[in-house]
Amino acid sequence: MTTATAPVPAHRHVSAAQPIAEALNLSKSYGSDSATVTALRGVTLRLEAGAFTAIMGPSGSGKSTLMHIMAGLDTATSGTIALGGRDITRLGDTDLTLLRRRRIGFVFQSFNLVPTLDVEQNILLPFDLDGRRPNAAERAHLLALVDSLGLTDRLRHRPHELSGGQQQRVAIARALVTRPDLVFADEPTGNLDSRTGRDVLTLLASASRDRGQSIAMVTHDPIAASFADRVVFLADGRIVDDRGRCTPQEISHLMLNLEAAA
Ligand SMILES: Nc1ncnc2c1ncn2[C@@H]1O[C@H](COP(=O)(O)OP(=O)(O)OP(=O)(O)O)[C@@H](O)[C@H]1O
Ligand SMILES: [Mg+2]
Repeated sequence: MTTATAPVPAHRHVSAAQPIAEALNLSKSYGSDSATVTALRGVTLRLEAGAFTAIMGPSGSGKSTLMHIMAGLDTATSGTIALGGRDITRLGDTDLTLLRRRRIGFVFQSFNLVPTLDVEQNILLPFDLDGRRPNAAERAHLLALVDSLGLTDRLRHRPHELSGGQQQRVAIARALVTRPDLVFADEPTGNLDSRTGRDVLTLLASASRDRGQSIAMVTHDPIAASFADRVVFLADGRIVDDRGRCTPQEISHLMLNLEAAA
């Protein structure tokens, strides 16, 4: 297997498993003319069904942009995205919204909670948007999630009454509550202390291992990334390394090399 001292070929991680999400030669530029910023430069990434993938890379390397485009929240300048084998680049807005709502959970780097709703209403938002109420099994799943995220005594609070870490956990519960096939989580442990962070990582790992959900998680934390089955490294809008499960020491070493090269 890979070691921290091995040479660093790109796209090392190869598997025959059916990808749940596939980005092909994705590029993204913002702005125009002299003000153009290029965030992604030809990224090809296949996320396998049921796998837990960490995405790492320096600030500004394109991680959030990649997640937003793969989740159908933003469009690429060029390249294609397939979800469950379906090219979403060609889907109309209505079909795309339904697909996203039913199959994808997203934890935003900035949480995106609704300030006028309490914690429970925020978590139940995906059901509201889908025009239905949770059934008994979904209700039980909600309560288990809330309990494992330590939010049980905060259900009637509004976001501004919560700490940053509590808001982050509400965003995680909201992304997981409908048990979507594919969950994108942008730095889901960024605001958490190490114990709460570990609880969240255990929750994400078990969603992948026990329920077959696919998880893609952006993180700057080598310990968080060591919970994943695979670690993908981005730098300056390109995938520069792609590894199987790594120890935190190996990941720190790879990150230091990347930052030194930047
Ligand atoms: N809406 C936007 N308009 C213009 N430039 C943008 C926009 N969003 C992102 N960028 C630029 O694209 C590049 C990649 O940004 P992105 O947010 O994907 O980075 P990141 O890897 O998620 O960084 P961080 O670790 O700081 O969250 C950056 O140079 C950023 O300034
Ligand atoms: Mg980001």
